[in-house]
Amino acid sequence: MSQKLTVLGIESSCDDTAAAVVRQGDARAEILSSVVLGQTALHADFGGVVPEIAARAHAEKIDGCVEAALTRAGVTLADIDAIAVTAGPGLIGGVLSGVMCAKGLAAATGLPLIGVNHLAGHALTPRLTDDLPFPYLMLLVSGGHCQFLLVRGEDDFRRLGGTIDDAPGEAFDKTARLLGLPQPGGPAVETEARSGDPTRFPLPRPLLDRPGCDMSFSGLKTALLRARDGAIATHGGLRRQDRADLCAAFQAAVVAILTEKSRRALEIYFSGTPARRSFAVAGGVAANGPIRTALQSLCAMSETVFIAPPLALCTDNAAMIAYVGLDRLRRGALDDMTLSARPRWPLDSTAPALLGAGKKGAKA
Ligand code: KG4
Ligand code: ZN
Repeated sequence: MSQKLTVLGIESSCDDTAAAVVRQGDARAEILSSVVLGQTALHADFGGVVPEIAARAHAEKIDGCVEAALTRAGVTLADIDAIAVTAGPGLIGGVLSGVMCAKGLAAATGLPLIGVNHLAGHALTPRLTDDLPFPYLMLLVSGGHCQFLLVRGEDDFRRLGGTIDDAPGEAFDKTARLLGLPQPGGPAVETEARSGDPTRFPLPRPLLDRPGCDMSFSGLKTALLRARDGAIATHGGLRRQDRADLCAAFQAAVVAILTEKSRRALEIYFSGTPARRSFAVAGGVAANGPIRTALQSLCAMSETVFIAPPLALCTDNAAMIAYVGLDRLRRGALDDMTLSARPRWPLDSTAPALLGAGKKGAKA
């Protein structure tokens, strides 16, 4: 029987301070605890994540968060075999808080230190939740990220495409702001869209006319603003139905873009003739009903298994960081006290850099 290993994970790359304890022996890894302290209220007045506010909140909360994760897991640092921490990509002040905390703990205990790529955490989550075999296709779609990844191994990722500007979650949030809806915008826009007509305001589908899997969402926001102002000018204000129709139009555009680009990414993935076809999603936007349904039916048409991990593991968390740490610990791929925070850290170093930095920091 292989040795049971227990890893403490720490995550602070955006606006969630998180710590978790994950253990693995022979069987599938088990999440002993996962604590996530969000900062939504702190940034609510500013229309986006304010890096300085995020960094200060991480610095204030991180020690307590780690303590809570250990307590909830029923372990102490003496039961931990390694400390894994997000070392990038993300907002540098936040990433630094986590890295400094992890270094302090490693120095005090003598435990190995492992710097984890946040995107690898998301990309490998379907293995933690569903034991998904390689290779699989992943769509990471959140407020900070949007990219297709061909996941071929623990350390082997190929980026097939991504957003060249905003992430879809950002676009949902901006749409909500333009229409006077609450934050986070995604759920609010989805709810409004249920009673809307998606055809009344024709919005563009940026980059659909170009080959490849890259995406663009910032033009949608500008088009939506124009359509909103047009409706206001016509009716002397924004009526309830206008708002619903605008939400429906925006959501329909995002669904169309993600579906068509996913179809192309699947084609590339299939060309490698995987033994079993699997398409996994992660990120807050994957909670959207119509997006999920569209991707599910796309998979059904191509005999592909559709995997959507539970939402708490789709969004930012530290269990995914601890899980990557477990694998790295097993492989002896450790870091030392020279570990540094990296605002940009692409998973696939051969892919061209993504330009969009977005409100939630560098994409990769
Ligand atoms: O992965 P996540 O929790 O965090 C980061 O991006 O860091 O994703 C949050 C994003 C927000 O932009 C939010 O508006 C969006 O996911 N979101 C949704 C839905 N629920 C959350 N977007 C569309 N539809 C939803 N139901
Ligand atoms: Zn993330």
